[in-house]
Amino acid sequence: MKEIKIESLLTVYDSLDELPKDVMALMEKAMEARNKSYAPYSNFSVGAAILLENNEIVMGSNQENASYPSGLCAERTAIFYAGAQYPDVTMVRMAIIAGSKKKVTDTPIPPCGACRQSIAEYEIKQNKPIELYFMGEKGKVVKSHSLANLLPLVFDKTFL
Ligand code: THU
Repeated sequence: MKEIKIESLLTVYDSLDELPKDVMALMEKAMEARNKSYAPYSNFSVGAAILLENNEIVMGSNQENASYPSGLCAERTAIFYAGAQYPDVTMVRMAIIAGSKKKVTDTPIPPCGACRQSIAEYEIKQNKPIELYFMGEKGKVVKSHSLANLLPLVFDKTFL
């Protein structure tokens, strides 16, 4: 018997002001995307923006449905569009901003498990890390240098 310790390293920025300029520009795109969120049921709006290696920026927001499970998170809306539209272009980083319409969300909101699994697929496909930056409506911004860093013990194609 042995124990295995799994660690994740995150960088925490105290505010948007600390972000590198290019990351700030991507976060602004995520904010723009969030404004297009369709979230009449949860009243929780999320925006995501992905920078591609060809300098294109792909944006997505959560899209809800009266049949709740038919809706989709912002991160997957964005990454599936990027995968569908630019199948051979590497994804460099994703910025995510999320918050409730009913209260101020000032803690960083990480992508949900299903989104992590979906982002992992593309990270593995391109064999290059996808950086993630996520935040609430205001306050701290968290950076993960890769998706793998947020999803240890990932289920991937090697098991199939
Ligand atoms: N949501 C996202 O867009 N991304 C996440 O990672 C977590 C949750 C959305 C789904 C739903 O529309 C709302 O937030 C509340 O769960």
